[in-house]
Amino acid sequence: MTDSPGTTTRWQQLRSASPLDAARLFWRKAVHRTVSMGRFGMPTAASVAPTRPCELTIDVWGPDRFDEILPNNPHLTEEDLGHFRRQESRVIVVLDGDRIPASSWMTSGRVYVHELQRHLDVPRGEHFSCRSYVDPSCRGLSLMSHMIHHYSTLQPEGDETWGLVYDWNVASVRSLERIGWRRSGDYWSTYWFGRQSGGERRYPPRPPTTT
Ligand SMILES: CC(C)(COP(=O)(O)OP(=O)(O)OC[C@H]1O[C@@H](n2cnc3c(N)ncnc32)[C@H](O)[C@@H]1OP(=O)(O)O)[C@@H](O)C(=O)NCCC(=O)NCCS
Repeated sequence: MTDSPGTTTRWQQLRSASPLDAARLFWRKAVHRTVSMGRFGMPTAASVAPTRPCELTIDVWGPDRFDEILPNNPHLTEEDLGHFRRQESRVIVVLDGDRIPASSWMTSGRVYVHELQRHLDVPRGEHFSCRSYVDPSCRGLSLMSHMIHHYSTLQPEGDETWGLVYDWNVASVRSLERIGWRRSGDYWSTYWFGRQSGGERRYPPRPPTTT
């Protein structure tokens, strides 16, 4: 059997590590690990426009144009597009002539969360935000904030937008908090010897940490 590139890298890491680091690495990879993300969101009607104006066009596309996003977002895979097609999904795009320098997905129904490797149920009236991406040449223009705010203004009153963000992703947390999203929960997947279990905890919205 041929090792996948990821497996080879892990074995190389293991071989070059000290015995203690090797034991830690083995524990994390093979015995126990947890992937944890913060839940951020808000009612769509309360979305706050970013103060920095957006000079590019923002549009919302349906499944007939999903394929156009693939070459413009290196984080997106064919598998993701398959999930988005099976779910109720829309993609928010920023257009700069023929270029799509930024995109962000909203989806609902039985939603597959790539990072947690499991499904969540997102009921009607809730919009799950994921896979936001801004090309490095266009970062710093609040494009993620603009995309999500634009989408929110198009939704019926009473709806909610939310998504999951890693604690380390400060750019993402900041982009969300400045349009009013607040942290109100934690979601996680835990693995013991490869066996997965998932959990979540909800709490009242917390004050922003980046504004
Ligand atoms: C997250 C992402 C979409 C944001 O791009 P963007 O819309 O251009 O965001 P901006 O750069 O305009 O805003 C990010 C904010 O976070 C701040 N920020 C970024 N890294 C930071 C750090 N380490 N510490 C403090 N602030 C930080 C920036 O200063 C900026 O705030 P400001 O405008 O008040 O100065 C982009 O970084 C990206 O595509 N990342 C890779 C994919 C990703 O992580 N997607 C999100 C998944 S939830």
